[in-house]
Amino acid sequence: MSVKISPSILASDFSSLGEEVVNITKAGADYIHVDVMDGHFVPNLTIGPDIVKSIRDKSSLPFDVHLMIDPVQPYIEKFVEAGADIVSVHPEANDDTQACIDKIKSLNVKAGLAINPDTEWEVVKPFMDQLDLILVMSVHPGFGGQKFIPTALDKLEKLRKEIDQSGREIDLEIDGGVNFENIQSVIDAGANMIVAGTTTFKGGPDEYANNIEKLRGH
Ligand code: DX5
Ligand code: ZN
Repeated sequence: MSVKISPSILASDFSSLGEEVVNITKAGADYIHVDVMDGHFVPNLTIGPDIVKSIRDKSSLPFDVHLMIDPVQPYIEKFVEAGADIVSVHPEANDDTQACIDKIKSLNVKAGLAINPDTEWEVVKPFMDQLDLILVMSVHPGFGGQKFIPTALDKLEKLRKEIDQSGREIDLEIDGGVNFENIQSVIDAGANMIVAGTTTFKGGPDEYANNIEKLRGH
């Protein structure tokens, strides 16, 4: 199984965000991970659709947009218009998860469901046949640079089994605290899409390609 790297631009230099997206694309990333936070669902504020739109033409890579917002539904179309290729929503938000997935699918982009560290993996089960991606949070959402929570590994294993049994092509993404030391364990547990913020952007632009190569295990 080939592993894809999705650097979270949350860890980039926001004062030159466009350039950072260019840099990370040249450095060999597979996706651009965009962490959207609303100061309500999570205790931090980050990126809105206008910013996504402003960086969209800096890269031809798919934009992997992770919505940590509540409500979610009213904003889905705005992010797709801004250039999202994959939109992930949280079932923990007080919004109608099924309606959010329907909305994402109606806009012809990929639909993801993201689950927090305290959420049981079974929550995704009723939605499996509609999902393109399952995102397992290995930190409590809100901030980059946190420590990996190891219970995510067990969740990945369970979900990998479930995905393989389903026969559907669903990406299994891990998000939070992934570094050079623990990446092999998340891959062994079944993840095929790896979000890495702090680790990718470590050392500045000259290091991005090295960091991505190292994450891939080279
Ligand atoms: C956390 C975000 C993550 C995170 C990744 O709420 O969803 O994408 O910032 O950053 P690192 O790799 O630094 O944990
Ligand atoms: Zn994220």
